[in-house]
Amino acid sequence: MSRSAQEFVVTPGNSLSGEVTVAGDKSISHRAIMFGAIALGVTRVRGFLPGEDCLATLAAMQSMGVRIERPAETEVVIHGAGMHGLRVPAAAIDLGNSGTAMRLMMGLLSGQSFPVELTGDESLRSRPMERVAKPLRDMGASIETTDGKPPVRLAGKSGLSGVEYVSPIASAQVKSAILLAGLYAEGETAVVEPAVTRDHTERMLAAFGVNVDVSGLRSAVQGGAELQAVDIDVPADISSATFPLAAGCVSATGPVVIHDVGINPSRTGILDILSLMGADIRQSEHRQIGGEPVATLTVMPAALKGVEIPRHLVPLAIDEFPVVFALAAIAQGSTLISGAEELRAKESDRITAMVNGLRELGVAVEEFPDGARITGGVVQAGVVDSLGDHRIAMAFAVLAAVAEGPVKILNTANVATSFPGFTACMGSLGLRIEVSDSVGSVG
Ligand code: S3P
Repeated sequence: MSRSAQEFVVTPGNSLSGEVTVAGDKSISHRAIMFGAIALGVTRVRGFLPGEDCLATLAAMQSMGVRIERPAETEVVIHGAGMHGLRVPAAAIDLGNSGTAMRLMMGLLSGQSFPVELTGDESLRSRPMERVAKPLRDMGASIETTDGKPPVRLAGKSGLSGVEYVSPIASAQVKSAILLAGLYAEGETAVVEPAVTRDHTERMLAAFGVNVDVSGLRSAVQGGAELQAVDIDVPADISSATFPLAAGCVSATGPVVIHDVGINPSRTGILDILSLMGADIRQSEHRQIGGEPVATLTVMPAALKGVEIPRHLVPLAIDEFPVVFALAAIAQGSTLISGAEELRAKESDRITAMVNGLRELGVAVEEFPDGARITGGVVQAGVVDSLGDHRIAMAFAVLAAVAEGPVKILNTANVATSFPGFTACMGSLGLRIEVSDSVGSVG
């Protein structure tokens, strides 16, 4: 695929302040499209994230015959096809860069009667899918991966049976895939997780009228339920809010204010980590949006200190670790990240990507299989490769605000997968990011 090989050049400057609202939550936007597609009736979604990942989910559902309208960029109207109303797509479904789309759809499509092939870009085609395929096979699904990775082929099967799956991995994607297959299975399907992970599937299925039984680390559904369409308001994504939040942390002036950020407790590990590091983050205007708690976050400048990140916070901040690595580079003392081997299975190997990038900028880092030790100090000018990983690119863009000279970040086009408008949002806070496009061949 030919795609623009985009780069960022960030000019340092740490007088960052202002008020922003970031785009809708990626996890919730994916689920709203998928659940709306198999519901009965019309689901209206407001605050939808128009990022490439969620648009891939939207296009996938359209390719299976679901009528979906976009009256505005962030508004989607889904005419639900019902549990058995999806139709065989004309071609393989390309889910781009999105692991969430692929894994949740593996579960959802396990219950359909038609065959389908799921594929994606180079990054997605290198990510592990057996973690989902294996338990789905235990339920009776007929799924083939390609050496454990995409393309994934589902043969189409009608009879799934419920399981009690004790997951070895703390992963909301695994949990969600199995619960979605469970909607099509005979009897009860339960997932028991080793640690708390995001619970948007459980919350949203309940909003669609499904009886979801949650008890501690166990979530269960009964097969045969029908989803009833419901309007969904999507809160702002705390994972995207983490970048302006980090800007507020490195700022010499502040404050940085971010409105209506989703603060579901299964997503707020980053707030706990930053507080441990000495950040001054205040919450106000608490309210509910679409069954999810939100608040306005205000960050005041404060000196950060290195800490040992408690392991239980890893799954609660799983997407925010690129920023944790970046802020550790300017914290006083050393920061230890451990128990975070899952970071190696994300859009890139995020441990190696951050370690290599930080070293390019002169930061002292020791790499471990499950994390790293980062010693805070001076961040030099330099060139870092984001490896096409949106969150690596954005984390280095914020860190560059406090570098000694310009920082060039390579392969930044995928920022559009989760945070379209990132450069404008950060620019409004005073971060100077120059974007250059040169057509190259990637993926
Ligand atoms: C997601 C779950 C997480 C996260 C991803 C979105 C979801 O993945 O990294 O960006 O929407 O369920 P894992 O569940 O594999 O950790």
